[in-house]
Amino acid sequence: MDGNGRWAKQKKKPRTFGHQAGSRLLHAIVEESNNLGVRVLTVFAFSSENWKRPEQESSFLMGLFIKVMQREINELHSNHIQVRFIGDRSVLSETLQQVIRNAEDLTSENQKMVLQIALSYSGQWDIATAARSVAAKVAGGELAAADIDEQQFAAELSFADLPDVDFFIRTGGELRISNFILWQAAYAELYFTDVLWPDFSVAEYRKALQEYALRQRRFGRTGEQVSAS
Ligand code: FPP
Repeated sequence: MDGNGRWAKQKKKPRTFGHQAGSRLLHAIVEESNNLGVRVLTVFAFSSENWKRPEQESSFLMGLFIKVMQREINELHSNHIQVRFIGDRSVLSETLQQVIRNAEDLTSENQKMVLQIALSYSGQWDIATAARSVAAKVAGGELAAADIDEQQFAAELSFADLPDVDFFIRTGGELRISNFILWQAAYAELYFTDVLWPDFSVAEYRKALQEYALRQRRFGRTGEQVSAS
């Protein structure tokens, strides 16, 4: 959800104004995803590296996450959306951790769609955390090093019970992944747009999904093999 800061700057407003606008757009995108039958929507709300931002901006964002979750959770629940968070919670405030636990507990049985919020998350953090867990199993004699393969390893990552990423949208004009989901996005279709996140709209989202629908996903096979199947 990149571009909030620049959007606000264009309007001669503080960066925090952009984050507020961004959170309103997120509401519309979640609603549209649910209506369209998207099964899992993961949003990058705050990366491990975002902690390097000025303290005032990081703490504003943490407060915003609390406010937005408190404001939205009942509507998310009544729309049968399961809310989950991925990332290093140990560094979050006790209040935010509590808000996360409440949201996850309340919505854990919901089946229509999963809204996954990456907060204090990075793909490299995820892989390193999984590696620690695999190493502990090997050290404990639960797993032989020779038995570690892609499936075994992937089972230790965040959201191992959900499908890998199919489609990856980055707003705001940068052409990079910036340590977002890495392993599970190995075969994701990438979509980059110059539109800044607060200006990204339901119409822009539909345009992106239409482009996704035209992509041929080969997963290493030839185009002919895919067409034949
Ligand atoms: C990146 O834009 C955006 C963020 C670091 C924050 C995104 C958060 C929201 C949209 C609020 C969502 C709320 C919940 C509960 C998930 P940037 O600040 O890097 O923009 P810039 O590149 O223009 O500076």
